[in-house]
Amino acid sequence: MGVLGSSSSSSLVVFLCLVLNIAVLCNGGTTSRYIRKLEEIEDMPLNSDVFKVPPGYNAPQQVHITQGDHEGSAVIVSWITPSKPGSNQVVYWSENSNKKKTAKGIVLTYKYYNYTSGYIHHCNISNLEFDTKYYYVVGSGKVARKFWFITPPKVGRDIPYTFGLIGDLGQTSASNSTLTHYENNPHNGKTVLYVGDLSYADKYPYYDNNRWDTWGRFVERNAAYQPWLFTVGNHDIDFNQAIGETIPFKPYTHRYHVPFKASGSTTPLWYSIKRASAYIIVLSSYSAVGRSTPQYYWLKAELEKVNRSETPWLIVFMHVPFYNSYVKHYMEGETMRVVYESWFVNHKVDVVFSGHAHAYERSERVSNTAYRITNGDCTPVKNQSAPVYITIGDGGNQEGIDKAMIEPQPDYSAFREPSFGHGIFDIKNRTHAHFSWHRNQDGYAKEADKKWFYNRVWHQVDEPSD
Ligand SMILES: *[C@@H]1O[C@H](CO)[C@@H](O)[C@H](O)[C@H]1NC(C)=O
Ligand SMILES: *[C@@H]1O[C@H](CO)[C@@H](O)[C@H](O)[C@H]1NC(C)=O
Ligand SMILES: *[C@@H]1O[C@H](CO)[C@@H](O)[C@H](O)[C@H]1NC(C)=O
Ligand SMILES: *[C@@H]1O[C@H](CO)[C@@H](O)[C@H](O)[C@H]1NC(C)=O
Ligand SMILES: *[C@@H]1O[C@H](CO)[C@@H](O)[C@H](O)[C@H]1NC(C)=O
Ligand SMILES: *[C@@H]1O[C@H](CO)[C@@H](O)[C@H](O)[C@H]1NC(C)=O
Ligand SMILES: [Fe+2]
Repeated sequence: MGVLGSSSSSSLVVFLCLVLNIAVLCNGGTTSRYIRKLEEIEDMPLNSDVFKVPPGYNAPQQVHITQGDHEGSAVIVSWITPSKPGSNQVVYWSENSNKKKTAKGIVLTYKYYNYTSGYIHHCNISNLEFDTKYYYVVGSGKVARKFWFITPPKVGRDIPYTFGLIGDLGQTSASNSTLTHYENNPHNGKTVLYVGDLSYADKYPYYDNNRWDTWGRFVERNAAYQPWLFTVGNHDIDFNQAIGETIPFKPYTHRYHVPFKASGSTTPLWYSIKRASAYIIVLSSYSAVGRSTPQYYWLKAELEKVNRSETPWLIVFMHVPFYNSYVKHYMEGETMRVVYESWFVNHKVDVVFSGHAHAYERSERVSNTAYRITNGDCTPVKNQSAPVYITIGDGGNQEGIDKAMIEPQPDYSAFREPSFGHGIFDIKNRTHAHFSWHRNQDGYAKEADKKWFYNRVWHQVDEPSD
């Protein structure tokens, strides 16, 4: 509403917007009119097919992979054996050679209140060929289980690559629908950027960690075959003083390993990787972000390292959005935004993905960095250097959809809709990438929202406004 002059005309327009909700008058974007069917929001029962324990004594379960180094030639394979440690080896071979190699991993366990975890294995397999299909086996003898993955192409500026976006998934039948839609999406996502809030085990009495295990078994059907890159959400903190559990992120950090050391990070809560033509920076909304904190120094140095000749696409993700117009988590991202937003604009970050709000929203390219305590200059302005902010916390967990929105729709909001779904960020080459959002109620190919991204380092043309 920054264009308005006198307060009387301003309140009149606000009034009209509230009554008529006319986007033109308010200058905001589109609030989707889509009428959705009621979502099932209960967690899937423990005896559901998706939670089935693989057959055989002590068979590896909850198999998942993620990138293991900075460049994409290593993979961390993780799995859990319930009854005893069992083999900590991964046997792997490339489709081309059939020559089997083995790598040894580490085994961890943890206790949470009166829950004791299974044996959590993490094995870093490295020196892999790029752009190659590998088979791998975890467990041995009768309970050996075989999977495969495809390594990314070598990092380079014109390498196409397709990322999937999933957030706040949980384990309801809506979550299952989101995962199924992602799997069947013809855009064919190759790596998931997961914007936080994994299992929602903390919704159970004593934060029943068995629900971390069911989540691990549920997502195995995808996460064992393609890397999922995680960040932490509020439901991954698992801080519960009443039962003496005061070490934040205990289940998450034991179960999900990330290659943080490879990017000079000192904690798994923030890190970066390169993959194909993208540089991906993962931040923690639940760690200190202020000036002089470890995350602050790391991010400042990290942004300087990005070479857009090598990786034209700069993607950032964290749990809590900066620009979000759903009531539930409105302005929760301010603590981080006031400190990091100017860096994102100055470095021409292409897109910032977040979750937290259980809904979908895409922002205009806006920045709000002019404000000083004395100048009152606090309205976001359009700026082609700024990122697009996409909130995609609509995976379908048991808390349901966040329907209440800030009205009228703020200027910075380009499109919003409270439905469950997932996103695809499809990099074509150094100049073009295409984002699409897919709501669960549609067929797999339907793009309920979409936008072309023009790379502002390599393509000095303004994006089409769509
Ligand atoms: C953990 O404690 C709760 C509450 O006392 C109890 O209901 C549950 O059965 C216990 N679980 C185990 C594995 O002991
Ligand atoms: C989950 O989705 C898969 C299809 O992708 C289906 O086979 C399975 O039965 C579903 N399970 C539940 C509990 O919804
Ligand atoms: C995996 O191994 C590679 C090669 O030695 C190394 O660069 C990388 O940091 C390792 N990753 C982890 C998570 O240990
Ligand atoms: C940036 O990347 C390009 C392309 O890979 C390379 O030629 C150049 O030397 C790199 N610049 C720096 C400062 O590393
Ligand atoms: C957009 O952001 C850039 C980088 O911070 C700044 O130099 C420029 O003045 C901004 N433009 C507008 C219109 O605010
Ligand atoms: C980059 O991709 C876009 C979209 O697919 C295409 O129109 C354009 O021609 C491509 N540019 C180059 C140099 O291949
Ligand atoms: Fe959430």
